[in-house]
Amino acid sequence: MDKLIIEGGISLKGEVTVSGAKNSVLPILAATLLTDDACVIKGAPALRDTNTMLKILRSLGKNVEFDKGVITVSAGKAAHFMADYKLVSTMRASFCVLGPLLGKFKKARVSLPGGCVIGVRPVDLHLKGIKALGADVNVESGYVTAKSDGLCGARMYLGGVYGSSVLATDNVMMAAVLAKGLTVIEGAACEPEVADLADFLLKMGAKIKGHGTPVIEVEGVKHLHGAAHTVIPDRIEAGTLMLAALITRGDILIKNISFKHLGALIDKLEEAGASIARSEENLRVRYKKQLRAVNVTTLPYPGFPTDMQAQMISLMSVTPGISVVTEKIYPDRFMHVAELNRMGAHIQREGPHAIVEGIGGLCGAPVMASDLRASACLVLAGLSAKGKTAVSRIYHLERGYENIEEKLGRLGARIWREKEQR
Ligand code: UD1
Repeated sequence: MDKLIIEGGISLKGEVTVSGAKNSVLPILAATLLTDDACVIKGAPALRDTNTMLKILRSLGKNVEFDKGVITVSAGKAAHFMADYKLVSTMRASFCVLGPLLGKFKKARVSLPGGCVIGVRPVDLHLKGIKALGADVNVESGYVTAKSDGLCGARMYLGGVYGSSVLATDNVMMAAVLAKGLTVIEGAACEPEVADLADFLLKMGAKIKGHGTPVIEVEGVKHLHGAAHTVIPDRIEAGTLMLAALITRGDILIKNISFKHLGALIDKLEEAGASIARSEENLRVRYKKQLRAVNVTTLPYPGFPTDMQAQMISLMSVTPGISVVTEKIYPDRFMHVAELNRMGAHIQREGPHAIVEGIGGLCGAPVMASDLRASACLVLAGLSAKGKTAVSRIYHLERGYENIEEKLGRLGARIWREKEQR
């Protein structure tokens, strides 16, 4: 197992290019199950999660090739409809093969993904949606088995206690594209990655309206064909790099960015006093003056993303003043707080709130990553801290950030990988 070593205190400067979005490429790969034709996905990030999804597609009988950001998926000798626990348990997004398998083969058996450190993470909304389409659903021995004689379009509400669900919207939309008649999903997730999946499905011949809004309409078609698609830039990687510029008091030009997907984050950073210059596909983030503390509440898109909460706490922990960070999507997503406190931060957890008292600076320390975005938060903290930080369990980081140490290294960071001593 590797750990990342960071010698902090260097202002990052230069240009960096954002990779394709993890949360787009995973459901888009699942959508290739809806056709026997070949599909080509461009701009695909080389991530641990991408590889997991490719393994799942292979286990379901697809042939896959991945070369320099281009994934080609084509039909193999025999198709299967069962997604195994060993693969699904390592990545929650793999549960979204349920919808396409059910739509294409009228049956699917997919392992339940299980919980993870950021919370319980149920799948009730996924199941509610496919049941509404007429599937017979049985949950037994850790697997969901779904069958139908042919799905039928239906009107449904998919909002939950914590708002809309991204992967449930993806799953149900993918099941509905081959169903008979009209499906209306109310309370749909509006995240850009859901809209990107819908754009790919449209290219495959699906009929979808309203994606990117809370009401999605899907008119079922008889069959889908192959398609080529380029995934949107990863807004969370972009946001993490923006915070890297600010926390190190640097100046970074970030390329391949879709700033319309970053509205809530840009607004918060400007409120904190950051200088952000936009052009068509680039953003320049500069630290010009001392930032001030701001309060942040995570919400479904277009609100402030929960996937940027941990990184924002890092920035606030070195920004003078008191900042209250409220987590509305995953109230237990605060594993990073204790690790930041080990680096000298003053953060107190009160239920779904983190109360951050910004201090002059953090001190490098050995810390442990607990999940993907918590790892990014610790890397940011390490970049700004005095001395050496060792972030262990970085396999979490590899799930969602392509070549992150190379990208940060090219911006001047002193960051390298070492083998973990046992
Ligand atoms: C997706 C993203 C993840 C992001 C999250 C919230 C992918 C691959 N992952 O995860 O990076 O953090 O959206 O923006 O796209 N919920 C239920 N019942 C369900 C499903 C979800 O109650 O059936 C709850 C969840 O526990 C959570 C909230 O709804 O509190 C939102 O979760 P959801 O949008 O489903 O997250 P994911 O799609 O798993």
